[in-house]
Amino acid sequence: MKQPARAAGSRDRESIPRKTPATAVVTAAAQAASARLVIDPIGYVRSSFLAKVEAGRQPAAVRGAAARIELLPGRHFEHALEDLIGWERLWVIFWFHHNNGWRPKVLPPRSTTGRKGVFATRAPHRPNPIGLSAVRLVGIEGLTVHIEDADMLDGTPVLDIKPYVAYTDSHPGAASGWLAAATTDGAPPPDPQPAWRVALEPLAQEQVAWIGEHDTLDLAGRIVSTLTLGPEPHPYRRIRRLPEGMLLAVKDWRVKFSVRGREARVLRIDSGYRTAQLAGGADPALEVHRAFVARWPRSGRPSPAPDER
Ligand SMILES: C[S@@+](CC[C@H](N)C(=O)[O-])C[C@H]1O[C@@H](n2cnc3c(N)ncnc32)[C@H](O)[C@@H]1O
Repeated sequence: MKQPARAAGSRDRESIPRKTPATAVVTAAAQAASARLVIDPIGYVRSSFLAKVEAGRQPAAVRGAAARIELLPGRHFEHALEDLIGWERLWVIFWFHHNNGWRPKVLPPRSTTGRKGVFATRAPHRPNPIGLSAVRLVGIEGLTVHIEDADMLDGTPVLDIKPYVAYTDSHPGAASGWLAAATTDGAPPPDPQPAWRVALEPLAQEQVAWIGEHDTLDLAGRIVSTLTLGPEPHPYRRIRRLPEGMLLAVKDWRVKFSVRGREARVLRIDSGYRTAQLAGGADPALEVHRAFVARWPRSGRPSPAPDER
């Protein structure tokens, strides 16, 4: 895997582009502007989650999800791994490398009482996008650490690994702040489970097949993996209600669907680009969308883009 160059580091976190190099410069707000912390990844997560909507919200929501951490060679990490076998759980500290900024207030999926301050959540959109997951240690082979219960995307840079020490890290009776309002019988509501049926109308099937041939995106897979978790509007999952139905955004495609009982019925796909955007530019992605719109002219008003996560 490509190891990114060491970051120069004079930029603020907010100006680091999306898919930032994994070597991250973290500006500590509490320190003088000149004092920076430079962090190098020790390795990368390999998991089956390619998109944010596919990953579990927390390790407990993806019990058994297998992944591995591939540590970088030439850094003496084989010695650093010694004595880790025998620990059942590990803290993995990682970098949310797919974030493109942070928000002071976020809407957690399990909040029943609106937005929350980001420091009172485990949301990825943090000023320093550092993630923390207690995963299960399955085994170690050389520089590869096999884990389960991983909620990280494929390619996630890993910053550190520490043993989960039950006697000091576990506080099962601790109060849960705003989450308590969403709690029933002492247990938080479960994360959404794949329980919805997803059906594609003939037009949507034809469009999805065409996109499969002309775009690298597995649109059908993404539609199914998102909507089987339920069609409720949520910016995190890029679903919103329209006057005439529901809309799911998957990258730059807009998926119109309706809901009946526990079935989401996909009606048609539209391009997420506006006509003016499609008029110019030699970007190959735009070519695909131009050809799509020529074949399936828009159904009406251009679909609005659901809130980005
Ligand atoms: C709510 S966060 C919790 C992560 C960690 N357990 C924590 O508490 O810090 C989990 C979500 O982060 C997102 N995610 C995982 N890896 C990511 C990455 N490398 N970049 C951006 N988002 C990521 C996925 O959407 C996943 O569902």
